[in-house]
Amino acid sequence: MRSLFVCITLTIMGITAPMLAAQKVELSIDTSKTGAKINRNIFGQFAEHLGHGIYEGIWVGSDSKIPNTRGIRNDVVSALKAIKVPNVRWPGGCFADEYHWRKGIGPQRSVTLNPNWGGVTEPNTFGTHEFMDFIDQIGAEAYVSINVGSGTPQEAAEWLEYMTAAAPTTLVKERAAYGHPAPYKVALLGIGNESWDCGGNMTPEYYLSQMKIYSRFVRNFNPAQQENQQMLKIAVGPGGDGPRWTDWTETVMKAYQQHTWSWDINGLSMHNYTVGHWPPSYASVGFGETEYSEILKSTLEMEGLINKHSAIMDKYDPDKKVALIVDEWGAWYAPLQGSNPGFLVQQNSLRDAILAALNLNIFARHADRVRGANIAQMVNVLQAMIITDKEKMVLTPTYYVFKMYVPFHDATLVPVSLDAGWYTHGSVAVPRVDAIAAKDTNGKLWLEITNLDPNEPVEIEASLGGITAKAATGETLTAPKVDSVNTFGAANTVVPRPISAKVQGGKLTLNLEPKSVTVVSVEQ
Ligand code: AHR
Repeated sequence: MRSLFVCITLTIMGITAPMLAAQKVELSIDTSKTGAKINRNIFGQFAEHLGHGIYEGIWVGSDSKIPNTRGIRNDVVSALKAIKVPNVRWPGGCFADEYHWRKGIGPQRSVTLNPNWGGVTEPNTFGTHEFMDFIDQIGAEAYVSINVGSGTPQEAAEWLEYMTAAAPTTLVKERAAYGHPAPYKVALLGIGNESWDCGGNMTPEYYLSQMKIYSRFVRNFNPAQQENQQMLKIAVGPGGDGPRWTDWTETVMKAYQQHTWSWDINGLSMHNYTVGHWPPSYASVGFGETEYSEILKSTLEMEGLINKHSAIMDKYDPDKKVALIVDEWGAWYAPLQGSNPGFLVQQNSLRDAILAALNLNIFARHADRVRGANIAQMVNVLQAMIITDKEKMVLTPTYYVFKMYVPFHDATLVPVSLDAGWYTHGSVAVPRVDAIAAKDTNGKLWLEITNLDPNEPVEIEASLGGITAKAATGETLTAPKVDSVNTFGAANTVVPRPISAKVQGGKLTLNLEPKSVTVVSVEQ
């Protein structure tokens, strides 16, 4: 009678895992073997002038009733600070190639149009100074995308002088007059965005000739960025894996191999969304196991794409000087009913948390080449960290994954070998388990293990070579359903909960719930 009661109670709570027989997966981790550093920039974010991504999501204005600091929402800032956002890519996206920075400085802002995203007006109240204030408040670095599509090298060069120069030029005096005498830092510079499409529909050859000009003349003058911490220049790269995209990577990288002193790049961008089918038609909530499994299969294509473009880069840049920067990635679903389709509003479910973990693990495994990535997008747009509605704010399942991965920022990859087995549903088969391991900057070992299977728990048995493990504790993220979401009314449906592992005789044993993301640290 008592066990029946426990069973019913657990089922009502959605905790059915302990009642099922767990599949066993063995992991082998030799901590004496280490790989590349997982650059913290792979946890970067993307904030475009699109829908309520900036206006309402970040910027409410200083006269708003929503608590803010110089117009920037305090609740959003404090949530983002907690996930240690390394950099924010801004102002777009497609918006970047129609952005004219002078309209976003000074007391009189021009109202312009945002034809890409819903045809709304753009007040330009969130401009250079507001962006720099925002990233300063959250502790991130600037990744600025310059306008190659409809701007000029002169316009972009002057923007960089305005932001970064220290000498008393007219532009620097103007910056000081508008409140910032000290030069700003720009850590990353995107030379155009999707120049093969919304950024100007250029051929690779045409883009290359433009990119060389921008690379030559758009300089960072910040005295603190001359020797160390130099600004990284990121060229537009591929957006898929067909010949059109491999040609693009070939063209840019072949030219890079022969580049002279007068131009240079440090990164090649890659965009890859998990869409399922184009145009985006998968629902972001109210779906079942079929859509869950199809989307996970689709997201795992990221690995093949990285392999394909990395192989081309290796041909021309065997020393891996040019990083692959996946500066737009994430799930892109059908717009939520009733929303402006141009605002790219979607819900964010447990499926997205798992999708995020799988992609972050792929980037980490390719840490020698993938040294940056920016999920699209930070607030209220696509696979967001945060959803707001006026004064309300909710943190998404994806947010919690980014929080759980903080220990992996700049950690050193430790190779993991495992026989993951398969989770199958209909014609879809994907590995049942995915895992990474890394040592943080203090030498502590961290494991992330994702159980993709939405029905079966997994018993992990990890052999840990090279250390004497004593205990392991951490957090796990799961929820009753694959499409469970956090809402303003029920914000804690998908939140991490504590978990501990058994450590005995150099082996760590851990029970993973179905459809879960787990991060544990190992005490030595
Ligand atoms: O993130 C939305 C859009 O997707 C970006 O503006 C563009 O670069 C990409 O096509």
